Amino acid sequence: MALPTVNQPMTPQEFLGMRDFIYAQTGIFFNESKQYFLENRLLRRLSDLNLKGHREYLELLQGPRGREELKQLFVEITTNETSFWRNPPQIEAFQKMVLPEAVKLAKERGANRFRIWSAACSSGEEPYTLAMICHEAKDTVLKGMTTEIVATDISEKVLAQAREGAYGSYTLRNLTPIQMKAHFNQTGPDAFEVKSELKQLVTLKHFNLVDWPGYKALGTFDVIFCRNVLIYFDEAVKSKVIKGFHEQLYPKSYLLVGHSESIHSFNTGFELLHFSKAMGYRKRG
Ligand SMILES: C[S@@+](CC[C@H](N)C(=O)[O-])C[C@H]1O[C@@H](n2cnc3c(N)ncnc32)[C@H](O)[C@@H]1O
Repeated sequence: MALPTVNQPMTPQEFLGMRDFIYAQTGIFFNESKQYFLENRLLRRLSDLNLKGHREYLELLQGPRGREELKQLFVEITTNETSFWRNPPQIEAFQKMVLPEAVKLAKERGANRFRIWSAACSSGEEPYTLAMICHEAKDTVLKGMTTEIVATDISEKVLAQAREGAYGSYTLRNLTPIQMKAHFNQTGPDAFEVKSELKQLVTLKHFNLVDWPGYKALGTFDVIFCRNVLIYFDEAVKSKVIKGFHEQLYPKSYLLVGHSESIHSFNTGFELLHFSKAMGYRKRG
């Protein structure tokens, strides 16, 4: 990594300017206690661009080259932590309860396509986990249905990693040897690639969750996973995102959020579901 050439610390005004800009572009809200965190995240970019300080960077973002630079900004400021089979009780609730019930509903509607949205999919571990489950259910629960998992994120960097589908053992730590053998090709001592049959189930796309008019174009879903991203949004953005999900779900379809995220302070049109050691939401019919 290049050594930072920036010699001026971020001033409180620069922090507020950058914070408001990021909030408007992404919905991610950095409160005052996050100033040093944000400053550190941006240092590398400032250094790569040979900029003297944060004011110059904000001017660049707001200027004619800003649109292109936004992609880099999204890469720098997002937290992309994820893993396969993350939050096992919730994944198992999806496998054992949500999937069979949602497929039943889809069949009752006369559908032959089952659609899942992994919103904020990071480097692909979440959508490929869902693909493993759907692939294993293709001759049972999902018999007669085609499955499409739409996986979206704001960061082009993690989307590129997801497209590659290559992982080390740390992110695979929750999987059993049987799952590893069934769904991955080992390509090196600590390198595993998801098999093509899983990649075929997953469509990766860039999508910013604050692109309000863009939701409709993604189509309607039987299940939406949106885990561990609502925590970065404030109440106003969370509420609009949840409304967006509500509009893109079929009646009685499912929304699964992260285990520390709750949506029931909003009047959402969802009912809360209690599974064993996990929770979920269902759109009211
Ligand atoms: C902590 S990861 C969660 C990944 C996965 N859902 C999980 O639970 O393991 C959060 C992801 O949200 C994405 N993100 C943040 N703001 C976003 C936005 N406005 N639109 C879409 N994705 C966003 C980040 O790029 C990051 O990959």
